Amino acid sequence: MENKKIVVLTGIRPTGRLHLGHYVGMIENLIKLQNEADKLFYMIADVQAFTDNADNPEKVRNNVLEVALDSLACGADPSKTTIFIQSEIPEIAELTIFFLNLVTLARLKRNPTVKAEMQQKDFGEDVPAGFLCYPVSQAADILFAKANLIPVGEDQKPMIEQTNEIVDTFNRFYGEVFHHVKHLAGDTPRLVGTDGNAKMSKSLGNCIYLSDPDEVIEQKVRDMYTDPGHIHVADPGKVEGNVVFMYLDIFDPNKEEVADLKAQYEKGGLGDVAIKDRLAHVLKELIGPIRERRENLAKDPKMVMDILKAGTEAARKTAMETMREVREAMKINYF
Ligand code: TRP
Repeated sequence: MENKKIVVLTGIRPTGRLHLGHYVGMIENLIKLQNEADKLFYMIADVQAFTDNADNPEKVRNNVLEVALDSLACGADPSKTTIFIQSEIPEIAELTIFFLNLVTLARLKRNPTVKAEMQQKDFGEDVPAGFLCYPVSQAADILFAKANLIPVGEDQKPMIEQTNEIVDTFNRFYGEVFHHVKHLAGDTPRLVGTDGNAKMSKSLGNCIYLSDPDEVIEQKVRDMYTDPGHIHVADPGKVEGNVVFMYLDIFDPNKEEVADLKAQYEKGGLGDVAIKDRLAHVLKELIGPIRERRENLAKDPKMVMDILKAGTEAARKTAMETMREVREAMKINYF
């Protein structure tokens, strides 16, 4: 990749506030990349949110601001990252329509993430067509910006694969316009939920939010799953599968002390309360400053919307340029 410009794009559906899973899966990487990439785009994917919330425009609308607040509070810097709203870029919808011809229904149904989500939502054959097709729209999200590096959680990998297939087919039919894109996994590609479920997810109700007050963090940590066989402090406990230790591994900056605690826990003599207190402290240290910045930003929603407006205008320019190229390649540049 000699001299190739790094163009980063990631997105988030505005269906709820951001939680620790978003933080380690995506946001952390985005913030790091702000000092490395040539260009960064951060999309609030309201169009994608509608694919399974078509009947709830208020929810989508309200969460655009919530997600923007969370992201800015985490350190998304509008002077480095173009933060924009998907539905305000009609070129993405346009591209999606053309990309849909490059993908088969069978392929759409095979996408493992969509499959899992369809099961979770119990859609069956009554899946909204837009939902089944959202990976195609996601390819358009990425390709309108000619992005090549996509920091997202592990569950989004199939979308990247589908995007690259669309790139291949598009280029084969119409000439070389797009390039392959790469997935960038966070250090923690998938964060387990507070209940030990494989994924932290709003719909599973096992999240710690980046806006949770201290008491809520404490309560959620207290309720965390440890080792059901560890009843008395003196009992030896299991570290593997123990959510508190999984979180300490990820969030506790002092790895040596965590290693010591694990050894002690396995031997017996270390209580759940002690490790939970430690984890609660670590998480409060992480989330506290984010929550404070969020509260300050929330006092001026107009300023936040102005940031989104400026970002959207910038993204639109890029989109129009790409669309001009696409039209030429597809021979639909009539006038
Ligand atoms: N599907 C992503 C999610 O659910 C959000 C998203 C939409 C996205 N468009 C994107 C992520 C483009 C990366 C690139 O979190």
